[in-house]
Order: sequence, then structure tokens, then C-alpha cells
Amino acid sequence: MSAAMHDLTAHYSDLLAVRRNDARLRALREIMPGPGATIYVNGRPLIDFASNDYLALSTHPALAQRSIEYINRFGVGSTASRLLSGNIAPFESIERKLAALKGTEAALLLPTGFQANATVIAALSDNRTQILCDKLSHQSLLLGAQSSEGRWTRFAHNDIDHLRHRIGAPSDFERRIIITESVFSMDGDIANIDALCNTATEFGALLYIDEAHATGVLGVCGMGLTAGRNDVAISMGTFGKACGSFGAYIACTSEIREYLINFCGGLVYSTALPPAVLGAIDAALDIIPTMEKQRQMLLENAEHFRSRLKHLGFDTGLSQTQIIPIIVGDDRSAVDLASYLEDAGFFAPAIRPPTVPEGSARVRLSLTTLHTREHLERLCTSMRNWRAN
Ligand SMILES: Cc1ncc(COP(=O)(O)O)c(C=O)c1O
Repeated sequence: MSAAMHDLTAHYSDLLAVRRNDARLRALREIMPGPGATIYVNGRPLIDFASNDYLALSTHPALAQRSIEYINRFGVGSTASRLLSGNIAPFESIERKLAALKGTEAALLLPTGFQANATVIAALSDNRTQILCDKLSHQSLLLGAQSSEGRWTRFAHNDIDHLRHRIGAPSDFERRIIITESVFSMDGDIANIDALCNTATEFGALLYIDEAHATGVLGVCGMGLTAGRNDVAISMGTFGKACGSFGAYIACTSEIREYLINFCGGLVYSTALPPAVLGAIDAALDIIPTMEKQRQMLLENAEHFRSRLKHLGFDTGLSQTQIIPIIVGDDRSAVDLASYLEDAGFFAPAIRPPTVPEGSARVRLSLTTLHTREHLERLCTSMRNWRAN
């Protein structure tokens, strides 16, 4: 190893040592799916409270079947970007299906949610654009703002007065984009979409809402909280969570779709989604509108669980959905709780800064339709025992 390489490696080792000392070191674990809500983590069976597979579609036979069908028809790879030879027929039929479900003129599929946020926002902004992001926006949304030519700022979480206060003078900006999530990924609370729409309309801003954790679970036909609204310019969502597979979409006007096909690097310079994934997405869009009962059960279980946890004295923040944080504050307590739960047979990793704000380390519990009331009760008992320890 050269001296320069040695110094660089030492630099990264030092940074890792700081993370380790701060109890913030992350590590990969080997996961194998098991029956029902069980997964094997490094070979050990645990009840999974970390999955975003809210409707348990990742193992649904109809998704697997359509994936296999599409592999047989189109092969395993899409061969190129959608602008070259990658735009196989299912893309546009899925986009039409999705647009009809979302109630928008058009939709556009992109490889991942991270890529969509990081590149669509940058494509929509220039140096005369002000970008206003909710403070708790996902890292990919912030990356989109940071990598754009626009001037970005953050407003206090879900605080419309603060958003209004941050909106710059018309002389400084020609355009504004307001960015938020409909269901916040680490808190499970819901944005005030009516108030955001009113503010966007009043200031002539474009509203961009990330529906990663709402798609499949909330709204008309499970299509998210922006479904059927014509006052949200752009909604984005992922297929890797409640939709059970992978990929992302933008729901928007036909003009914005065409603009993104021309100007969005995440679409232009990236290999199109593979056929197997398109098959799973296509089947998920057929099934999700029919899953009203499962959605209702999921949200009722979440409500029941939240009230049990609150009754036991745990801080579940402002959660109103299937995502329930147990906010403990300091990193070591969060790690301790996660490891106690793991010993008791549950997988619910600690979430620490920088993923969440300083002083708000937590264990993030996400519920799926595979959880039974018995699982929830057993988890409550373990949480109570941890507290008593
Ligand atoms: C709110 C939010 N947006 C975007 C993403 C990224 O989506 P994907 O996993 O498809 O890259 C995530 C995933 O963690 C998310 O939670």
C-alpha cells in the first residue's frame, strides 16, 4: 500500500472509530425470510418489526408469477436506459395504470426512490428556484435539493407557519418547490397536505410529496394521500415498501413527465428497471386496490399497539400510521432496547443520528399485515420488562 493510500485508510478508520465510540456504528446482518412475520437474522429466528413490506406482498404468489412471466417474455435484463433499448412494453402500460389509480395525467417509473428524489428535484430546479424542504425529509430528498442549482432551505417539521416564513421574496426567486413526505419514514406521522396545498397555491409553488410509506397503505385505493387530488404537482412513491418489490414512480402532468424524460439524469443515464421487477410492480398495482380490509386491519392493529405502548409510558412521538417509533433519546438506550428485544426474539434495530435528529434515538417499529395481536402483546411485555430492568 502506498503512503498516500495508508493515510487515507487511516483517516477512514479514525472516522469509524468515532462512530464506534459514539455507539453509532452500523453493520450489515444476514437475513433469510422465514414463515409469516419471522425472519432469520444471522441464522436466528426473530419476529420482524423492521420490514417496510407493510402488505406482505414481497412473497405474494401473484407478484412472483408475473415476474416469472415477464422474465420468460423479456429476459432478465432491460439492456439499457429507457431512452435507448430499455423501454420494454410493460413500462408504459404500468405508467398508464398507475396514473389512473393516482388520478394524474401521467406517471413515470424510475429505478429507485432514492434515485428519483436525488435527480428529479435537481432536474426541476435552476439558480432562480427556491427549494423548501421539511426538516425531517428523507436524505434522498435533501440530496436532490443539495445537488441542484437551486437555493435550498429547511422549514420546521410539519410547521406551515415556519414554511411561510421561509418563503423568499418574489424578487429573489422565479420558482419555488416545497418538498415533504406524506408519511414520515422515521416518525410515522402525516403531513398536513391541505395546508401545504393552500400554501403552494398562494405562493405559486410546486408541491413535491414523497409517498414512499403511504403508497399501498393510505388514501384512495391505497394509492397514497395525494391520490385523486389535483392540487399536488408531483407525488413520488416507491415499489420497494408496501408494493413488495423495487422501483419508484413520479405521478405528475404529461408535460412534467416529458420534461423529466428529457432532463432527469436518473432516467436518462441509468439502466431501466428489469422485467422481473416490472412484473411484480404490475401485479402489485392490480392487487393493492383490492386490499382495503388488510389496510384497515393494519391501521387498527397499529392504533391498538400505539395505545398499549403509550399506556406503558413509551414515547411514540406523533405516529399515526403503521410506523411507530419508540423514542428513547440517547443512542445507548436505543441500542440497549434493540438488543434486549433481539434477545427476546424481535428484530427492531436502533435508529440513531444522523438518520434522526440528535437526542431522538429510537427503535422504529413497523407493522405489517403478518403481525398478529399476539406478536404485539408479546412485544409490549418485552418492552415493559426492558423498562423494569
Ligand atoms: C421517505 C423515503 N423516500 C425515499 C426512499 C428511497 O426509496 P428506495 O428504497 O426505493 O430507494 C425511502 C427509503 O428508505 C424513504 O423512506
